[in-house]
Amino acid sequence: MPSELPLVQAPMAGGPSTPALTAAVADAGGYGFVAAGYLSAEGLREAIATTRTLTGAPFGVNLFVPSPPGDPGDVARYAAALQPEVKRLGVALGEPRWEDDAYDAKLDVVELARVHLVSFTFGCPTPQIIERLHRAGLQVAVTVTSALEAQLAADAGTDLLTVQGTEAGGHQGSFADLAANHRPLLSLLAQIRETTDVPMIGTGGVMTGRDAAAVLGAGAIAVQLGTALLCTPQAGTSALHRQALLDGRYTDTILTRAYSGRFARGLVNRFALEHDGQAPPAYPEVHHLTRPLRAAAAQAGDASVPNLWAGTGWRQLTTGPAATIIRRIAADARQADV
Ligand SMILES: Cc1cc2nc3c(=O)[nH]c(=O)nc-3n(C[C@H](O)[C@H](O)[C@H](O)COP(=O)(O)O)c2cc1C
Repeated sequence: MPSELPLVQAPMAGGPSTPALTAAVADAGGYGFVAAGYLSAEGLREAIATTRTLTGAPFGVNLFVPSPPGDPGDVARYAAALQPEVKRLGVALGEPRWEDDAYDAKLDVVELARVHLVSFTFGCPTPQIIERLHRAGLQVAVTVTSALEAQLAADAGTDLLTVQGTEAGGHQGSFADLAANHRPLLSLLAQIRETTDVPMIGTGGVMTGRDAAAVLGAGAIAVQLGTALLCTPQAGTSALHRQALLDGRYTDTILTRAYSGRFARGLVNRFALEHDGQAPPAYPEVHHLTRPLRAAAAQAGDASVPNLWAGTGWRQLTTGPAATIIRRIAADARQADV
């Protein structure tokens, strides 16, 4: 990484990532990301431009690779299972439409903007796309959750692997959304290191300097932090989400497809408990289907329904400024090293 510290701010689409967070991490010596997920292409162009007004440091942009459509019959069965929620909240389900998150238009935006690095999640970009970005002077990272995915990404020509352990908050970036891909970070790094020389960024459950030192010790060149930054003033995390993360009431996290149709880790709330195991692999159809339920509950201050993304280490999160957290984790990691 071109940053002074081997610490990377995870792209966190859906609100938590902000230009202010990216800039704060970059200015503290870490490496920041703009999260392109759910934005329009125009929204992404603006986020890149705003971030550039806040920091002169290089940063990356993270894109969602389109997932194959799910089975409409399975989605309809899940819609039926959600009817008690519809009654309870008094809102209709969303249209379970498939879309590609404006993938092609966003590729044009990052290429034209000449951002430093593009990281991909939910799949591997084609070798042609990687070549095109390389020709434009951009570097490429691909999120992987297994040794096989690492091999495929290396073969496609990626410069970096973002190796994501099962501890990670938010969505798993697996190419195919399989429970078999849920592996602890340290053993996954060790396994991938045996099969490829592509430099690895480790991510998932890193909250302290000691955690970071262990990931670097397992062969990663840098560590990507998500949950650790969720309650910083620079993050755009909603008040409801922040409150839940800091509320001693939650006892566990769960990896579930219930909210979006893709495995993602969040705090266990009533919705996860009641609907885990019911949702099919159908992203983003299920994301659109459940969206009005999650939005209505959030609007009413009801945390029992919305997704409350959190990694397994959420209990250790602190609320200080992003720069303070980055500098503390870096300093503690150096101490843990010696
Ligand atoms: C709220 C939230 C949103 C996330 N959104 C994205 C995203 O848009 N793209 C991505 O590649 N990863 C995303 N992730 C996963 C992170 O990149 C990273 O793998 C994860 O946060 C690491 O685990 P940790 O949260 O325990 O640090 C998200 C994570 C969280 C917590």
